[in-house]
Amino acid sequence: MNVNIDIINQLDDNYAYIVHNDCEAIIIDPADEIPILKIINKKNLNPLSILITHNHSDHTSGISGLLSHFDLEVFSSNLKINETTKLLKDNQKIEFSFINFNIIATPGHTLDHIVYFSEKEKILFSGDALFYYGCGRVFEGSYEQMHNSLKRLKKLPDETRVYCGHEYTYKNLEFVLNEVIYDKEASLIKEKYQQMIKEKGSSMPFFLGQQKNWNPFLNCDDIEYKKKVSNFHKNEGQISPDANDLEFFRYIRDKRNAF
Ligand SMILES: [Fe+2]
Repeated sequence: MNVNIDIINQLDDNYAYIVHNDCEAIIIDPADEIPILKIINKKNLNPLSILITHNHSDHTSGISGLLSHFDLEVFSSNLKINETTKLLKDNQKIEFSFINFNIIATPGHTLDHIVYFSEKEKILFSGDALFYYGCGRVFEGSYEQMHNSLKRLKKLPDETRVYCGHEYTYKNLEFVLNEVIYDKEASLIKEKYQQMIKEKGSSMPFFLGQQKNWNPFLNCDDIEYKKKVSNFHKNEGQISPDANDLEFFRYIRDKRNAF
């Protein structure tokens, strides 16, 4: 069965997504219902449910507006998200007529953060856990929780297409190339994405396999990668290649916070 994903720009740099089969639709992380309603009406879709990754308002503030138009189930892992009708837990499976999702708990950015993975379609909605060339800030959880969450996501198949919660790609690439590790190939990618974001309004989706090579937050266990980062001129004397995975993760995350 065909599965389509419409990428909806929200607020300054957020994404909501409409997953549909040209008939029924599921909405992920709505922040502003207006552009979502436009697509639903234009394509004559029948929305079934809303899926929420975490409790931040830039992922939930469109829920009530959508509920004023449609009778929808709202899936989340946190009853504090008021409109929740179905509470989700780690490793749970949810089934719709045209797509199924595995729920993976990914605490760190928030304690309630979950992501939605379709094993059959190889699609991941990663919210603010994993970004293109980056990861979410650690707000509610610990560095260890966030690091463990990313380790779980790294185990998903390389061909997984990832749709994340924000358009941070260009800034993340700037950070990686200026502060972590320089690479000519990645530098060319940066220019390509600048152009793509300008033209298409989005760099989504990205392939998880490519990020297993390039995303510093997915490489905290790679000794060769750590050596390269440690030898990069801005990191000399700052981080040892012998740093353990979590120390390395903390170093890169703190550096990104200050960037
Ligand atoms: Fe967030």
